[in-house]
Amino acid sequence: MRLKDKVAIITGGAAGIGLATVQAFVRAGAAVAFWDVSDKGAEVAEELTRAGHRVTFTKVTVTDSDEVLRATAAAHKHFGRIDILINNAGITRDRTLMKMTQEEWNDVISVNLTGVFNCTQAVVPIMKEQNYGRIVSASSNVAIRGNYGQTNYVATKSAIIGMTKVWALELGRYGITANCIAPGFIRTAMTDAMPEEVRKASLAHIPVGHWGEPHDIAMGYVYLSSDEARFVSGICLTIDGGAAR
Ligand SMILES: NC(=O)c1ccc[n+]([C@@H]2O[C@H](COP(=O)([O-])OP(=O)(O)OC[C@H]3O[C@@H](n4cnc5c(N)ncnc54)[C@H](O)[C@@H]3O)[C@@H](O)[C@H]2O)c1
Repeated sequence: MRLKDKVAIITGGAAGIGLATVQAFVRAGAAVAFWDVSDKGAEVAEELTRAGHRVTFTKVTVTDSDEVLRATAAAHKHFGRIDILINNAGITRDRTLMKMTQEEWNDVISVNLTGVFNCTQAVVPIMKEQNYGRIVSASSNVAIRGNYGQTNYVATKSAIIGMTKVWALELGRYGITANCIAPGFIRTAMTDAMPEEVRKASLAHIPVGHWGEPHDIAMGYVYLSSDEARFVSGICLTIDGGAAR
């Protein structure tokens, strides 16, 4: 029960790594308000509530700062505090540089980058007031090694590493830590969408010889959100089976 009595907001919690993180957090004793653009979140929340966990689901797009502020205020009112923010929501719109459209560029920037900015700005006043907070965001190991066809995505995931360092400096004095996780190849809808040959080829670069599962990343979020990680701030924890160079 490493997160006993903690309250977390998790974005993009209806599927993939976000869903595994919601599940790991409630098992670790946290109350969770999770958001997603997908209606699937409602079913997830119903199931977890039936199992006796404290969860709420709200349909929120992280790109809309007003929606994010309203949902943050609602979660705060419902649970009484906000200890943890997991900035997990993210999308890909892959295309090589010269073929990438303005729309593909803007979509990824607005979810993966502006979305993280919106959610973090919304929770920090509450965390400051509590003199306690944990902010953990989804970067990617492609921020470290680059990736073919991902100018937009890599731009956002690299920016998250930088923003995390800024927040560690700005917010440490309020008892708030800021970190990010750089997952490698994790089996979710995002990686299922890749061509079969790219998925197969990825294995050759993973020293442990297998892909990761959403739970592998969720456990990193649990650690960085726990009281045990109180002296860890400004880092990017790579969880990729040894693939990043
Ligand atoms: N899967 C991987 O291999 C991998 C590797 C590195 C980093 N990541 C990062 O981890 C995070 C989760 O990835 P995943 O593989 O679980 O993806 P996924 O596509 O399986 O799930 C993402 C979830 O985010 C939601 N979402 C999308 N846009 C949103 C928005 N505007 N507002 C709120 N929710 C929104 C989706 O509906 C979905 O439920 C992403 O930030 C991704 O970039 C994933």
